[in-house]
Amino acid sequence: MNRGVLRLTVFCTTLLFLIGAVPAQEPEHGHQHDPEQQEERDRDRWMWQLPETVIRTIGVEEGMVVADVGAGYGYFTLRLARAVGREGHVYANDIDHDALAQLENRCANDGVNNVTTILGESSDPLLPPGVDLVLMVNTIHLLEDPVAFLQRISDSLQPQARLVIVQWDAEKMSAELGDLSPGDKILFARETFLATVGDAGFTLDRIETFLPVQSIFIYRRNS
Ligand SMILES: C[S@@+](CC[C@H](N)C(=O)[O-])C[C@H]1O[C@@H](n2cnc3c(N)ncnc32)[C@H](O)[C@@H]1O
Repeated sequence: MNRGVLRLTVFCTTLLFLIGAVPAQEPEHGHQHDPEQQEERDRDRWMWQLPETVIRTIGVEEGMVVADVGAGYGYFTLRLARAVGREGHVYANDIDHDALAQLENRCANDGVNNVTTILGESSDPLLPPGVDLVLMVNTIHLLEDPVAFLQRISDSLQPQARLVIVQWDAEKMSAELGDLSPGDKILFARETFLATVGDAGFTLDRIETFLPVQSIFIYRRNS
């Protein structure tokens, strides 16, 4: 892919996502619920998000029960629903009622019937028990009390389940976008959340680094 195109796309979309990353119930960010704007924003996201490769790499398989925590309007949810198939199920959690309503509409329009939305609480995603894999994309930095939140997630997991965190990576972002502000450098530094996830009772299995502005952290629950 032309590196200049990638750079520009990553820059524009990343910026929009960072703005959109503020919890959506704040009225000044209400624009992110316009489905057309959302589609426009996500049109080129595949170039840097590589969603199908992510889903394959983290081991999502047919028949699994997967939770997309901080699902937003469902960029990953719909792809996960395809990957787990009719025997599997996807729980799409968020604290943003409007985003979940938009996702429900998309599921209804596309005939997707293996997705259940869950309007969570800020400190508890309210997942049911028996989840095989939890995916959190660009969300962990928004949690008010990440340790408590991740502990609630842990309560819902099968013994061999995985927690997968796809997160902006400060080093890669600087390489693509130029210097970050000091605040963003800290917010998106790996060290900022690695210790937090460890404190919540998870062990890091591996880090996948193939994405251009994010990294993928694959955890299992401590036994
Ligand atoms: C930047 S968006 C990412 C959305 C989606 N994962 C994606 O990759 O397109 C972050 C999402 O996290 C949600 N969020 C923030 N705090 C949350 C919490 N405590 N529990 C669940 N979702 C939360 C926001 O409402 C928002 O939809």
